[in-house]
Amino acid sequence: MALRPLHLLGSPALREESAPVDTVDDAVRQLVDDMFQTMDASRGVGLAANQIGITQRVAVIDAEGQRFAMINPRLVEVEGKATAEEGCLSIPDVFADVTRPERVVLEALDAEGRPFRLETGGLTARAIQHEIDHLDGILFLDHLGPVKRKMLFSRWKKEHKDDATWLKEVTAEPSASD
Ligand code: NI
Repeated sequence: MALRPLHLLGSPALREESAPVDTVDDAVRQLVDDMFQTMDASRGVGLAANQIGITQRVAVIDAEGQRFAMINPRLVEVEGKATAEEGCLSIPDVFADVTRPERVVLEALDAEGRPFRLETGGLTARAIQHEIDHLDGILFLDHLGPVKRKMLFSRWKKEHKDDATWLKEVTAEPSASD
């Protein structure tokens, strides 16, 4: 397993539409393992493959005790509306309230290539939607009103104008048990 550098806002990979996975093989399973490790080290509740520069429809979730990989995920039903604060590992230190459907029904393949279906709400449903957005090149700030959205993007650009790269190395916690 390996930690992968995170792609931060500014990386073209975050704005790409990711391609479906044809076959869930060892390379995909290795990617899933690396993504879990990178998400854990970054203390995230979700991570999409294009956040580590791989534009394939693969994401991992760890929210409210539910930990799973989702390959070629799609929402077959959404219901209700909920607003809560979101952040993103690719846009560190930026948070904003986002309104999304409250409950979702997800269909995807697991890391063994088996189809599964999950009906869920709360933070898990929010994380699933946030990660599927990533796979479509959408960021959580895109859900805000135009004024707030522009303000937060401009502030980010200003604060990061001297950055030499959009990559952020992820390091394991010294006390990590794995
Ligand atoms: Ni994100």
